Amino acid sequence: MNHITQDPPRRRGLPYVGSTLDYVRDPLTMMRTQYDGWGPVSEIDFIGKRWTVLLGPDACEAALRNADKAFASGEGWGYLVGPFFDRGLMLLDFEEHHRHRRIMQSAFTRDRVEGYTAALQPAVIEGLARWKAGARFQAYPALKELTLDLATEVFMGGADLASPDELDRVNQAFIACVQSATSLVRANVPGTRWGRAMRGRRLLEEFFGRHLAAKRSEPGDDLFSVLCQSEGDDGERFSDEDVVNHMIFLLMAAHDTSTITVSTVMQQLGQHPEWQQRCREEALALPERPTMAELDALVDIDLVMKESLRLVPPVPVLARKTVKETEVMGHRIPADRLVAVMVHLSHHMPELWTDPERFDPERFADDRRDDKVHRYAWEPFGGGVHKCLGMFFAGAEVKTILVHLLREFEWSVDPEYRAPMSYTSLPFPKDGQPVRLTRR
Ligand code: HEM
Repeated sequence: MNHITQDPPRRRGLPYVGSTLDYVRDPLTMMRTQYDGWGPVSEIDFIGKRWTVLLGPDACEAALRNADKAFASGEGWGYLVGPFFDRGLMLLDFEEHHRHRRIMQSAFTRDRVEGYTAALQPAVIEGLARWKAGARFQAYPALKELTLDLATEVFMGGADLASPDELDRVNQAFIACVQSATSLVRANVPGTRWGRAMRGRRLLEEFFGRHLAAKRSEPGDDLFSVLCQSEGDDGERFSDEDVVNHMIFLLMAAHDTSTITVSTVMQQLGQHPEWQQRCREEALALPERPTMAELDALVDIDLVMKESLRLVPPVPVLARKTVKETEVMGHRIPADRLVAVMVHLSHHMPELWTDPERFDPERFADDRRDDKVHRYAWEPFGGGVHKCLGMFFAGAEVKTILVHLLREFEWSVDPEYRAPMSYTSLPFPKDGQPVRLTRR
């Protein structure tokens, strides 16, 4: 091919900090400004390093499809959350990633996910029974506690594994690990986010390591047991260390992502009572403990979930690092360069979506399918070989929570309310997302 490759334009900012603060304050505006001013492939300083930024569906697709195997996930994510989620599936690459993914896939077959979904039902019913409705109910922390209880049940096999105090310490350790991502201090300094995350990781390793032998010898149906028994096609299994690393990563991968999804849906349904009613009718038509097939057949709840994932993608930026020089859309990216695949912008581009800030679940309806405008217009679960392995479980979990919520409660949110989001790690509403909640 005869074309010119050029270095991407660089947006200059403060030394070291660069565009970090603009991102943390308002990622969408930062991304839009970057795209409008510097194009789909550009360079910024971000958390102490030079990054190449990919914006828009074509540039994101190039990195995620990774045709010439230039983009590695491990060293990219490793820079942000490396020591804390070390050797989780998302942090492995190429042949090794392929081998581990094949083994882990046997923990996410349809049958397995069906089993986890069945285990979710009583846990969600019990969790919601404890909610105390009120005029300023703090939805986000309540959902976070609920999804952590579900993870304890489905991932670890229930409360008999550990005391409530110990589970609380496990929860705090996770939060510390997840919150390390955009720390400007990236060393084990006491009192910093990074320092707390290091302690958190040690606690989690010790916790899973201690319970491993029992899960190997007397397995249940929980994910921890299943990972201990999982085999790839050739009979290969995970070592003890692999199981611990994968468990720590999986809990992180599953927890905040599902929580923010349900919390966005709650906000939107609180502001769009007609959609809340439509979804409630669907929920009430289901048996008390719906199966995976029944959850899959939901229409309105599915549209609302997809639209909420569009508006607030739980993982707004995916990290990569180049292992060799490569080219994206005519721009040269050198080897050993951190790359930010900013999928969030694609979800909000007026070039792709009509009135992108409007809550309009029907854009995903069969007779519209606006998301088909580009394969990478809607990419909350990523794409390519690292595409979310828990996607079907995530859908079943989010829908299970929504179905039971809609049956048990009604809620409303001021139509003018805009959640003040924190983007220091995965997005969450800083005010706890108050809703007016009443029991039906
Ligand atoms: C709404 C909820 C979720 C969202 C939006 C989400 C999103 C994502 C995204 C964007 C990636 C790709 C990251 C990359 O390419 O750099 C990913 C990877 C992954 N997710 Fe999820 N996730 C969700 C829930 C879950 C759940 C519930 C689980 C497990 C039970 C899970 C397990 C994984 C795993 C194992 C990977 C790594 C896959 C690989 O590298 O091969 N996720 N997720």
